[in-house]
This record gives sequence, C-alpha cells and structure tokens, in this order.
Amino acid sequence: MLLGASGTGKELLARGLHEASGRRDAAFVAINCAAIPENLLESELFGHEKGAFTGAVKTTEGKIELAHGGTLFLDEVGDIPLPLQVKLLRFLQERTIERIGGRKAIAVDTRIVCATHRDLDAMIAEQSFRDDLYYRLAEMVVNIPSLAERPGDAVLLARHFLHQYAPAMNPGVRGFAPDALQAIDEGRWPGNVRELENRIKRAAIMADGKLVTRGDLDLAGGRDDGEGEDYLNLRAAREAADRVAIRRAIMQSEGNISSAAKLLGISRPTLYDLLKQYRMQA
Ligand SMILES: Nc1ncnc2c1ncn2[C@@H]1O[C@H](COP(=O)(O)OP(=O)(O)OP(=O)(O)O)[C@@H](O)[C@H]1O
Ligand SMILES: [Mg+2]
Repeated sequence: MLLGASGTGKELLARGLHEASGRRDAAFVAINCAAIPENLLESELFGHEKGAFTGAVKTTEGKIELAHGGTLFLDEVGDIPLPLQVKLLRFLQERTIERIGGRKAIAVDTRIVCATHRDLDAMIAEQSFRDDLYYRLAEMVVNIPSLAERPGDAVLLARHFLHQYAPAMNPGVRGFAPDALQAIDEGRWPGNVRELENRIKRAAIMADGKLVTRGDLDLAGGRDDGEGEDYLNLRAAREAADRVAIRRAIMQSEGNISSAAKLLGISRPTLYDLLKQYRMQA
C-alpha cells in the first residue's frame, strides 16, 4: 500500500516495484478506481460472461484476471464503493474470482499494489472503508513523504527533468543558475514531483540563455523551516539544520565532497566527520 500526497510518485513507485520484481515479464495492469463509474467498476475488475447483463455481448476478462502472473495496481483504492470492497476482500482471501454472470472460480496469482491519497483511517472511522479489507491491503505500507520533506530531492529531480526536457524543447539550455537552484531547494512544492516536473518543463521552454534562472521558474515564497516536534531542543534543531544543509550541499555539488565542504564553509575532514557523526552517506 503506497500512501502519499498527490504527485509524490505513487504510480511511478508501483511500476518500479513491478519492474524490479520477478514478475516483470508479465503484465502490469493499472486501474484507477476513482475514474470509473461505480456501475462499470465491478465488470472492469472482475470481468463478465457473455449475456451477463444487457450489453454484455461477449465474455470479457477483468483487470484482475489480466494481471495474472504480474502486478495489479489498484489506484485510488479508497474510492471503491462498499459493496465492491466486500468482493475485493473475498478475492484477496480466496485468490480466486468469478466473472459477473459466471459460475466458475478462476484462480489468479498477482501481486497487489494499491495507492490512495485519502485518509483511510478516517474513512474506517466513518465506516466508508472496511477495516478487514484495509488490514489485507496494508500488509506492507510505504509512506511517500512530500517533496518538501525530502531535503535535496527537489534539486536532484530538477536536474533530471531538465536533462530530460531541454534537448527537445530548448537545446541551448545547459543547466540552472545558482539563484534558480536555491529557489527550487527552498520551494514548498504543494503539488510535489508533478508540480516540479511541470515547472521545470516550462522553465526550460522559457529560458533565454544557457542557464535557467530564478525568473524563468516564476516561483513565489519560501518555506518556513523549524517545524517538527523537536524543534525547540537546540541540539536536535542544530543536527536537523546540519543534516538539511549537508544534504543540500551534496546534491548541489553532485556528490563532490570538496565542493560541498566549500559551499558549507567547512573543511573536507570536518565534513567527513559530520557525515560519520550523523550516519549520512555522501
Ligand atoms: N522519483 C521520481 N523521479 C522521476 N520522476 C518522478 C519521480 N516521482 C514522481 N515522478 C514523476 O512525477 C509525476 C507524478 O508521479 P505519479 O503519477 O507517480 O504520482 P502519484 O503519487 O500517483 O500522483 P496522484 O496522487 O496525483 O495520482 C509523474 O510524471 C512521474 O513520472
Ligand atoms: Mg497516481
């Protein structure tokens, strides 16, 4: 179960999981449970036999069946209506399905990855999501933090997206100006990686020179730091601030320790000591 705000990369992670697994040669089947009308969702998931209902002109396999041997990605699983939740739970327990209008139990072997941006705990409390289904789906939970909670990632991803888009959209663009990197680093990114990707794509198009500037990014405001439970404890606050600065410096210098130390205004050996002390990796 992948939990994370919009644009944090849930679908990308689901695909990555499939590609990294022994099931990579079989299908990755994704279904967005929020995008399909309630009356069609059952047939989409479970399939139907010819003649099962008006318009069922031929037997059709459902997404679950199509994912046999591979991975089934149930996106927006929090949007599955209650009656279907019961049916899905039955499949998860029995590992067999019956098509609508069918009598035969069909065994399906698939890895289930699901995602939602909804608060399932709250939905369980108000009884719009079944707790028994939740426990089945939540055997392994991965919480994907927001981009603002991942120091250094925004700059790293911005470089990645620029390399991806600039060659086709504005081949003269080579990189980011320092003020742009700082703005990316300090951005709040409420739309997370998706917002960053779109912003970089646009900036790549808008840039006049070799470097994307802060102005090309058209970003407003910075982030308020100093949040979190421990922030009044000075030692914890210092360590947290050190970690953020070190991570940023290493990302900006693309892993070069000497230039990272220079950016931080400390010597190379001091930086190595801090990395060791905070158990961080360059
Ligand atoms: N770590 C990453 N590296 C490269 N691209 C990423 C990364 N994370 C996310 N993206 C890109 O950001 C965009 C949004 O990612 P994705 O669609 O996986 O998010 P999501 O969590 O499913 O969002 P939503 O909740 O809105 O459905 C995609 O274009 C994806 O390729
Ligand atoms: Mg998604």
